Amino acid sequence: MDCAAQKCVAITFDDGPGPYTAKLLDILEQKKAPATFFLIGKSIPAYSTVVARQRTLGMQQCNHTQTHPNLKQLSAAQQKAQIDQTQQQYAAAVPGGTLSCLRPPYGSFNADTRSLGLPLILWDVDTEDWKNKSASVTTQRALAGAKGGSIILMHDIDPSTVDAVPGIIDQLRAKGFTLVTVDQLIGAGQPGTAYFSQHQSS
Ligand code: NI
Repeated sequence: MDCAAQKCVAITFDDGPGPYTAKLLDILEQKKAPATFFLIGKSIPAYSTVVARQRTLGMQQCNHTQTHPNLKQLSAAQQKAQIDQTQQQYAAAVPGGTLSCLRPPYGSFNADTRSLGLPLILWDVDTEDWKNKSASVTTQRALAGAKGGSIILMHDIDPSTVDAVPGIIDQLRAKGFTLVTVDQLIGAGQPGTAYFSQHQSS
């Protein structure tokens, strides 16, 4: 995988695992399409087999906090607890597994968040799927926004998003994009650095 030479794009799914995640994994497996999942810790125990299957399929998995708070409104210790609790839930589902990046809910973070020791993975393409709840609108927004190196934000807790994914994958590939995980796009990432795409960080 050489995203310096190829036109890569990372599709990412937040706020799961949930009742539609298994169907999404069926689609990704059938299409041999890698994706990155940002997991809510409190949702992991009810879907531990789904989370383990994500790992088996080679999906990247990262931390999206235990209860999805706005981290900027929390103390440093509270922020750390949000990350640690999610990591513990994950390790219970995937023994020995580590969530090695963080997506702060709402894209909201501060200096304390940067000090948690994880790369922060944001996005440059927001499908607003949670708001439009329309497979066609989500598809249109994903395709219109995608550039080489993009990170596309979606949510696997909405069935319309899962319905959109087969078409999004096919049409991204038809436009010459190679689908990759976030770590294939940016490498391991630097702790405390915020990544918006392959080419934009701060
Ligand atoms: Ni979220």
